[in-house]
Amino acid sequence: MIDFQKVQEELEGSIEAIKDLSQLQQLKAKYLGKNGLITQAIARIREVPPEERKEYGLRVNRLKEFAEELFKKKEEELKALEIEKRLSQEWIDLSVPLETELGSLHPITQTMKRIRDIFVSMGFSVMEGPEIELEEYNFDMLNIPKEHPAREMQDTFYVNKEGYLLRTHTSPVQIRTMLSQKPPIYIMAPGKVYRRDDDPTHSPMFHQVEGLAVDRDISFGHMKYTIETFLKEFFEVDVPVRFRASYFPFTEPSAEVDIGCVICGGSGCRVCKGSGWLEVMGCGMVHPQVLKNCQIDPEEYQGFAFGMGVERLAMLYFGIDNIKLFYENNLRFLKQF
Ligand code: DAH
Repeated sequence: MIDFQKVQEELEGSIEAIKDLSQLQQLKAKYLGKNGLITQAIARIREVPPEERKEYGLRVNRLKEFAEELFKKKEEELKALEIEKRLSQEWIDLSVPLETELGSLHPITQTMKRIRDIFVSMGFSVMEGPEIELEEYNFDMLNIPKEHPAREMQDTFYVNKEGYLLRTHTSPVQIRTMLSQKPPIYIMAPGKVYRRDDDPTHSPMFHQVEGLAVDRDISFGHMKYTIETFLKEFFEVDVPVRFRASYFPFTEPSAEVDIGCVICGGSGCRVCKGSGWLEVMGCGMVHPQVLKNCQIDPEEYQGFAFGMGVERLAMLYFGIDNIKLFYENNLRFLKQF
């Protein structure tokens, strides 16, 4: 027969000496495993004479419960110790210098940021508008009615929701601004625009920056000064700037702005097609009809507006001749910026 007292004392003694979980597991098997001491003692219940069976059953079960409790407690104890040990051993030296290479801002992002900073320094604030735009804001309210040939100037991506399109320029932000703010207005609007156009200097998605100033007594001279100042700041040289009469439905008069070719210095090259001049943006005095469309009285207020392509400016500034390089994410290209 089993000596309950002795088994219990033995168990207490050996568990005391246990140092880790695997030792504990072994000890547990010795007592409570399939052929364990206690397990077998329980199995032998049937061999006990009937008059002693009740007493035996009680004691053997009590021993089993005692053992289980003991193992559970020891296991918790060992696990807590193990966590403590790991916490004291595993630590990271945050001051070790990183071996990884740092990324950099994309040249288009850098260019947008530079353009924005220059206009913000002149007192313009930044406005944004949605890329899926109302046809009404992209065209109609900018004085480009349906069937107007100017809609052909900008091959449009339409979306399959009546009255919406992918904006073909950032000019609809002018409309959104004038509908939501009273003059004086001085804003610039950077963002993505979309056109069905694809060749080495055109991409179906590209970036524009729009500018708009509406106030009392605004003249063409204010516009000229603002744009010239911007271009000299942007190209970091005293570039020659000229304004050429042009046409946009939303401005009157309208102009296109050229700078002296920054590649050849004006003597004529492939980039400026021998002319010595590079077209960099469109601009003009906001058409009175556009002001009226936004409930602004053209007798009281005038404005000027301009729009430029960010990729074009970035290509000229960095001397890049293929717009696609901006979108291929070739690291050998991007690492140069
Ligand atoms: N929206 C014109 C375009 O995408 C650019 C432009 C020209 C914007 C004249 C203007 C402007 O605000 O006054 O071609």
